[in-house]
Amino acid sequence: MTETRENPFSLPLRDYDINPYIHPLVARSGHAGHMRDIKGTDYVDLMSAWGTNLLGYGYRKVSKAVARQSKKFNSLGMPYPQFHELMDLVRQIVPGAERVRFGKNGSDACAGAVRLARCVTGREKVLYRGYHGFHDWYFASTDCPGIPAALKQTILPQAELTPMAVDAAFRKHPNAIAAIILNPMTPPFPTGVEMQEVIDVVHGHGGLVIFDEMLSGFRIAPGGMQELWKVKPDLSCFGKSIANGLPLSVLCGKERYMERLPETYYGMTFEGEAVSIAAAHATLTEVMKRDVVGALYRKGRLIRAEYNRIADAYKLSTALAGFEPCMSMEFRDQDGVHHRELYWLMIQELVRNGVFTFGAFILCFSHGYRDLQKLIRALDAAMAVLRQAVDRGTSGGLLDERVRAALDEVRSPANWRRRE
Ligand SMILES: Cc1ncc(COP(=O)(O)O)c(C=O)c1O
Repeated sequence: MTETRENPFSLPLRDYDINPYIHPLVARSGHAGHMRDIKGTDYVDLMSAWGTNLLGYGYRKVSKAVARQSKKFNSLGMPYPQFHELMDLVRQIVPGAERVRFGKNGSDACAGAVRLARCVTGREKVLYRGYHGFHDWYFASTDCPGIPAALKQTILPQAELTPMAVDAAFRKHPNAIAAIILNPMTPPFPTGVEMQEVIDVVHGHGGLVIFDEMLSGFRIAPGGMQELWKVKPDLSCFGKSIANGLPLSVLCGKERYMERLPETYYGMTFEGEAVSIAAAHATLTEVMKRDVVGALYRKGRLIRAEYNRIADAYKLSTALAGFEPCMSMEFRDQDGVHHRELYWLMIQELVRNGVFTFGAFILCFSHGYRDLQKLIRALDAAMAVLRQAVDRGTSGGLLDERVRAALDEVRSPANWRRRE
């Protein structure tokens, strides 16, 4: 197989995605915190398969659990003891999980949560903050073709996560908003106290609060952002890293809402698929036994300190935003060079220096000292090139011309415009 085959995932060019002029398009293998492309080039992988690779590719305990389970059965079409054991484990780890259901994708869990909130409140509108999967209820917030126009009035962006702003949104649509669904990793982050005030406001208006913990779950804290904030949302959605790369998601929440799930419909053929459930059990057991999250923070702190040190040395206006286990690069315009040119130049140079990223630094437990050293060397080499761009006042001659030509295109419709 050659790399010339069209990559089905990422055309047209988008931010936070494979860039066909910069990234390898086809992978051959993964191991620990590395990805090897089809040509055999080895990268320190900072995308971690969209955040699913929490422990490391081929992590022994998970691989063993998968092999053991697949020799027994893949799916029985009904619950079985390990299915219930995983539910118990999720209940122990996630503060707001009184009852648990499984799904396959994050999109399943979010769609289920929103449908349940609409069912229990008898309301149709939903406030959202962040990305919540590919289903119509959510994509009606964009100009993506193929979504019924009737849905568009049911989904409203909530830019500000403050009690006042959320109160204003509910007052603008009295008795019409079923829920607010939010990705707690969307900055700026309120404090736990402010978040509780937001929750109280939503409840005061008769709505539900849904946390979409796809990225934060088992990574920012074992129990997700709700653990850090010390709050309990009504419903929460988890996925991504829960099974270290196997497809499993979780819809969970307060008993009084979850028990009403049968009034509406939630379910799918593979809800009880046993191999992913075994993988999730092994993954979460390891998360709790080995202080996986603590290790991610320690690595992230070192990376952030080195990133800042190198950026200072080259006098560049850039920083790593977000929590240490899952950070993303941010740039400011500098001396006439647009921040997006600097952003893409940085990605290009990191990839050239053996670090695979679309702009995020998503760490896994298996990223080791050598990987961090390689990353730090790559950051130094990349920032030296960015310095040249700033000195020249242009990324011309440094950033791939096809990427430069596409920067405007990336900024607009290809990246489904939001109806803000
Ligand atoms: C915050 C958030 N919610 C929901 C989803 C959708 O999950 P999935 O792609 O597994 O359907 C994602 C995926 O990136 C996500 O980041």
